[in-house]
Amino acid sequence: MHLSWDETLFKSREVFDEDYLPEEYLYRESQLLRLATNLKPAVRGARPINSLCLGPPGTGKTTAIKLIFKDITGFENVVPVYVNCQIVTSKQQVFMKIFKAVQGYEPPSYGVPFIKLYYGALKGVKDRVLVVALDDLNFLLSDDVANDILYSLLKAHEEVEGVKVGVVGIATDVKLSARFDERVASVFHPDEIYFPLYGFEEIRDILASRAKYGFYSGVLSNEALDRIAELCYEHNDLRFGIYLMKLAGLKAEEEASRKIEPRHVEAVYENSRKVFLRKSIQALDDRERALLRLAYSSDEMTTGELYRQFREISGVGYTKFYEILSKLENIRLIDTRFEQRGGRTRIIEKRYDPSLVLDALKGF
Ligand SMILES: Nc1ncnc2c1ncn2[C@@H]1O[C@H](COP(=O)(O)OP(=O)(O)OP(=O)(O)O)[C@@H](O)[C@H]1O
Ligand SMILES: [Mg+2]
Repeated sequence: MHLSWDETLFKSREVFDEDYLPEEYLYRESQLLRLATNLKPAVRGARPINSLCLGPPGTGKTTAIKLIFKDITGFENVVPVYVNCQIVTSKQQVFMKIFKAVQGYEPPSYGVPFIKLYYGALKGVKDRVLVVALDDLNFLLSDDVANDILYSLLKAHEEVEGVKVGVVGIATDVKLSARFDERVASVFHPDEIYFPLYGFEEIRDILASRAKYGFYSGVLSNEALDRIAELCYEHNDLRFGIYLMKLAGLKAEEEASRKIEPRHVEAVYENSRKVFLRKSIQALDDRERALLRLAYSSDEMTTGELYRQFREISGVGYTKFYEILSKLENIRLIDTRFEQRGGRTRIIEKRYDPSLVLDALKGF
């Protein structure tokens, strides 16, 4: 039995979109509960407990805050503001978003001194509670900017009498707190909530749940699901699994097959890997790409050697170098491991075939 030209395997394609909020959010009850508990005081008009959600990419941090925000939007005395620090990259821009959410209209987009924007936003809060989620904090170009933004939020109640603000920071760097400067550290003691990597069974169940909402029933064979879960587990990123599942579905459709089989998964695997890699590289800035290029351009190298070479071409200092290196490691473009002979020297390991990465870097 073949699929006819007007039939589809997809019950709903948006289930596989990047910004889709899952129907079932599995294995994160405790994290969700803690986040909700911390924010609950806001609903009663009190200052919430600040939180920090930490964990590797694709572990459900953004999903958690989006689900919580969906719940609290209904309360009139809470003003939730979601800020993606990959897009909103300065203190000015953060407060423009807050102003808009608080006042209900856009502030003038340029020429407004920060101080005016700041007081304009905070004074409008009145007896409500402002809850600001700063997602992807580690993407901010410098720690100074992150500290500055945090400080301006944490000190708001001293600037404007009676204003109540709660902050939820989200980042992949589990040691984020170590990067707070003294000013921030002395007033910011967030409840740290960890989002660990999913195990194989968890990945399989989450993907199965996606399939249930995205495909018609019985479309995804168990064998294909197992294979996708396996590859996703190897990549350690749920997003990759979701993407692979969608492409396998399209492939099966293209072959007019009524079922998605392992061969469809194999057929799209290589290409998915490439596209996925390209997407990660696209999200980097020039300096980060330069370091990635360097790391993939030579044979085994220690972090010290890489730093020397990188300093020569970019002039950056060690702290910044280390920050960029951690980021590349976080988003799984490279690994670092300690040298066999003990000591503190670390070796850079490539996670991809070098030609694949260097090819993908060519377009930039
Ligand atoms: N527990 C879960 N149940 C169902 N879907 C999940 C779960 N965790 C993550 N997902 C899905 O995996 C994808 C990645 O999740 P999310 O964007 O929340 O990760 P993240 O931790 O914010 O990653 P990053 O640090 O890269 O921003 C999304 O499509 C999300 O719907
Ligand atoms: Mg996220």
